[in-house]
Amino acid sequence: MNLGNKIIYQIYPKSFQDTNGDGIGDLQGVIRRLDYIKELGADYLWLTPFLRSPQYDNGYDVADYRSIDPRYGTMEDFEELVEEAGKRGMYLMMDMVFNHCSTGHEWFQKALAGDPYYRDFFIIRKGKDGGLPPTNWVSKFGGSAWGYLPGTDEYYLHLFHVSQADLNWENPHVRRACCDIVNFWMEKGVRGFRFDVINLISKPDVYEDDLAGDGHRFYTDGPRIHQFLHELNRGSFGRDDEVITVGEMASSNLENSIRYTNPQSEELSMIFDFHHLKVDYPSGNKWEVQPFRFRDLKHNLFEWQQEMEKGGGWQSLFWYNHDQPRIVSRIGDDGKYRVESAKMLATALHGLRGTPCIYQGEEIGMTNAGFRDISQYRDIETLNVYNEMKLKGKTDGEIYRSLGCKSRDNSRTPMQWDGTENAGFTDGTPWIEVNPNCAFINTLDREDPDSIFQHYKKLIALRKELPVISQGDVTPLLEDDEKILAYRRSLNGEELYVICNFFGGETVLPDGILPDSWKLLLDNYPGEAWDGRSLRPYEAVMVIS
Ligand code: GLC
Ligand code: CA
Repeated sequence: MNLGNKIIYQIYPKSFQDTNGDGIGDLQGVIRRLDYIKELGADYLWLTPFLRSPQYDNGYDVADYRSIDPRYGTMEDFEELVEEAGKRGMYLMMDMVFNHCSTGHEWFQKALAGDPYYRDFFIIRKGKDGGLPPTNWVSKFGGSAWGYLPGTDEYYLHLFHVSQADLNWENPHVRRACCDIVNFWMEKGVRGFRFDVINLISKPDVYEDDLAGDGHRFYTDGPRIHQFLHELNRGSFGRDDEVITVGEMASSNLENSIRYTNPQSEELSMIFDFHHLKVDYPSGNKWEVQPFRFRDLKHNLFEWQQEMEKGGGWQSLFWYNHDQPRIVSRIGDDGKYRVESAKMLATALHGLRGTPCIYQGEEIGMTNAGFRDISQYRDIETLNVYNEMKLKGKTDGEIYRSLGCKSRDNSRTPMQWDGTENAGFTDGTPWIEVNPNCAFINTLDREDPDSIFQHYKKLIALRKELPVISQGDVTPLLEDDEKILAYRRSLNGEELYVICNFFGGETVLPDGILPDSWKLLLDNYPGEAWDGRSLRPYEAVMVIS
């Protein structure tokens, strides 16, 4: 399969389209909007989890891997969705959360009740003397990574929320159970899987304190990770060439990322790596507000592009998802140059080597939420961090500035279909507030040839048309330039150039970069043709020779 000409569209069902007025998006809502996604040109629809769950982490706490959460609909709705997508030539990609399950899952409940078979599904250890947890590891959402089992001297590991108990992948029954779940959904016609935090499933043999950090170095790309993924591949999706998979791999290194995705390893089709997004918190603390470092962004993007190419690995190309702020607010300009910068960012990414993934609302340039009070936030991580910041004595001003830039809720506000009060998302009260800028940022302007939507459509169409985009090599250009990100793609003598001004001032493309015979393919400024030299604020061009 040519992964390079496929497009993934990510749907956060809770915030996509509500059809029954309860303020929560649902599967019928996705069905209602399939034509819209088709119009854009996507091939795969990645839906974040809609399985039965107490929703402490919006469905990433699965309580039953084989049933649809009633908030989202029924199995019949799901089957209808697969069928309706199929009629339009699109496939479903499900989100499989296999590092942990909800403590409400039958497995955990049986473990709690003392059933030894299910106790071994989890990572349960005795605490240290003095009532301390087994290690000093820190949960990704704050606090200890160990949950106390009442009435015992034992703890269970939870790298995320206390309601998300880590599964013990050393246990072959756990690995078998995960294969069975994937097979169950494949039989229902699912043709793609996104594996949640899958680079964390292999834990070390010995559980010890991390004297130099929060513990993540012991379990990121852990000792048996490749064996586990290979086994999952062989036992489920790997039997069908038509199925594509993507692993969420925050903090994985290049060597492992190549191995995860080189077809010879028979592990995954591609990964999401996040190195290019860590450029606005160089100190490692994501909550610290800092401007993004352009040089680091270029360096990370190109290093990964080139090394993955060399090693035969494959990446998904993305600017954000449901865990990251909106890119036009983060790296672009969500004010004066919102349209130009949104198109520029799209151009910069969609010319690269990989499989693009577009997050709902990105194609219309949606912005951060603009929340000003903690009562507007819903995300468990944000609420935890808020409490921690309060305890540390931060002022409200500092706290809201940080959350306003960084919270995951920034990308979770409802999809802006139209300019009415609830943006066409719901007739009821939305579970999280709609951004009032839906009055002027919504899908209704997509017929306009100069809309952001049309720009995405063109980029997608070019990728499908031109092998140099879907299969060509990547060569970075102007690596030291402080304003311009530029690269060349080449395939069998054909060359494509992508040139992007990442800032709000004008700049000039140095001489000698483009060959004499260049021809403009795409520009994000309508009207006057590009002069081959000067770049207006956030101007981005694609040129062929
Ligand atoms: C992934 C998900 C995120 C979730 C976490 C724990 O990072 O994308 O939303 O909170 O895993 O499952
Ligand atoms: Ca609903």
